[in-house]
Amino acid sequence: MHLFDRKMELVSYLEGERKKNRTLGLVPTMGALHTGHLSLVKKALSENDLVVVSIFVNPTQFDKKDDLDKYPRSLERDIDLLKTVSKKIVVFAPTVDEIYGDQVKSESYEFDGLDKVMEGEFRAGHFDGVGTIVELLLRTVAPNKAYFGEKDFQQLQIIRKMAEIKKLPYTIIGCPIEREPHGLAMSSRNERLSKTTREQAGFIHDTLQTAKSKFGTESATTIADWVKSEFKKNPVFNLEYFEITDEATLTPMLKKQDNQKYRAFIAVYADGVRLIDNLRLN
Ligand code: PAJ
Repeated sequence: MHLFDRKMELVSYLEGERKKNRTLGLVPTMGALHTGHLSLVKKALSENDLVVVSIFVNPTQFDKKDDLDKYPRSLERDIDLLKTVSKKIVVFAPTVDEIYGDQVKSESYEFDGLDKVMEGEFRAGHFDGVGTIVELLLRTVAPNKAYFGEKDFQQLQIIRKMAEIKKLPYTIIGCPIEREPHGLAMSSRNERLSKTTREQAGFIHDTLQTAKSKFGTESATTIADWVKSEFKKNPVFNLEYFEITDEATLTPMLKKQDNQKYRAFIAVYADGVRLIDNLRLN
């Protein structure tokens, strides 16, 4: 397996591969890889000759230093895991210095309001940080297709918007959410939960599913009130937000329109760890 920590070395290697007419997939990650990440890698492998997996804990997308410091890092384990998946994987694991030099800061983006709600509202500057690193990775790798999880659905829509605004000619592919046996969406952050909290955390997905079953007959406000009351009864999980929005614009649903797709989004704290999830409603 090829491993690069330098942009220019990766670029020249990929140029050689492109000359051999090899198609390229890109899977950006922050490491601490789990089955959710691997589902993206496997999809990319099924659609491309070669897949670049980037592993980089991007400092500019963290609004809290503590969260950045505590983010799990396991590069050697990640590389060993990817080696077991396929020989057609190239790992790009740069240092912060290689990406940002001495200017560790984000660009400012205009995402048509997609960045102002939910994760954008509660994590200042987060999506500018994501936009900065993803644009850099896309331009460096210049893949045929790049793969992102619906686990971070707002991020996926923002990256699609960025590709459109910046006229980046790479196809952005969304991939379904992988879950733990009890329904908790897989996340590198789950490792920081206690065993009992992790086992109980199916509560988040269960609540989303019940919200979905209510969606046919009840208003968004009634459903949101019900979700809030469920969380008040459960001391292990603290609700940060629950929203039902239009899938394309991420604006809150006021009145259900025919032919529109809606999704429920949730952010929850448990054991001091922030967890997010979402579910399509119709
Ligand atoms: P990270 O959280 O490591 O996730 C990398 C990719 O894996 C993202 O596209 C994310 O949506 C996807 N993913 C994570 N958990 C998943 C799950 N349970 N099922 C399906 N896909 C899942 O998201 C980031 O990193 C960063 O913001 C990044 C895009 C790499 C920019 O730094």
